[in-house]
Amino acid sequence: MQGKVHPVAVFHESMKTRAVYPGTFDPVTNGHIDLIERSAKLFDSVVVAILKNSEKVPLFSIEERVEMLEVAVRRLKNVSVTTFDGLLVDLAERCGASVIVRGIRAVSDYEYELQMALMNRRLSKVETVFMLPAEAYSYLSSRLVKEISLLGGSVRGLVPPLVEKRLRSKYTGPKA
Ligand code: PNS
Repeated sequence: MQGKVHPVAVFHESMKTRAVYPGTFDPVTNGHIDLIERSAKLFDSVVVAILKNSEKVPLFSIEERVEMLEVAVRRLKNVSVTTFDGLLVDLAERCGASVIVRGIRAVSDYEYELQMALMNRRLSKVETVFMLPAEAYSYLSSRLVKEISLLGGSVRGLVPPLVEKRLRSKYTGPKA
């Protein structure tokens, strides 16, 4: 066997699966992090892809969103962070991802997600995989986190520590 690669090893090598986890991440929440951790266990590598220009006007700049995500996923060695514009399926092809991961929190998410998944399937060969976050995060959203912060409530435990800090300085100034 010396010098030869076992056929099973070759099979495994060629079967490496990269997933892309796209979103606006304005800002990243612990619900997103939970899904990234689950995806990192399921796939060989995960590319977290932040949409640069969505129709929504973001609270955080693209640079701020990248930084907050990079810090939050630094410990996950098979996870990287990138940004994108244009079609998600084009990004998936560019980075060699065969899977798109999307989180479903409640039935209300399903209709929009189904529409997107079917459209992406029509546009490319990429498969969409729906994943469930931990129940504790099933009611969590970036929109609610921003609203709570704006109104002076605490988001501790709902977002990574750096996000909590950045939200505080957005709404009350850096010294708060
Ligand atoms: O976290 P979000 O805001 O729900 O993420 C939405 C996102 C970024 C996944 C979606 O808007 C997207 O894929 N945008 C890229 C443009 C695109 O490919 N549009 C066609 C989707 S069928």
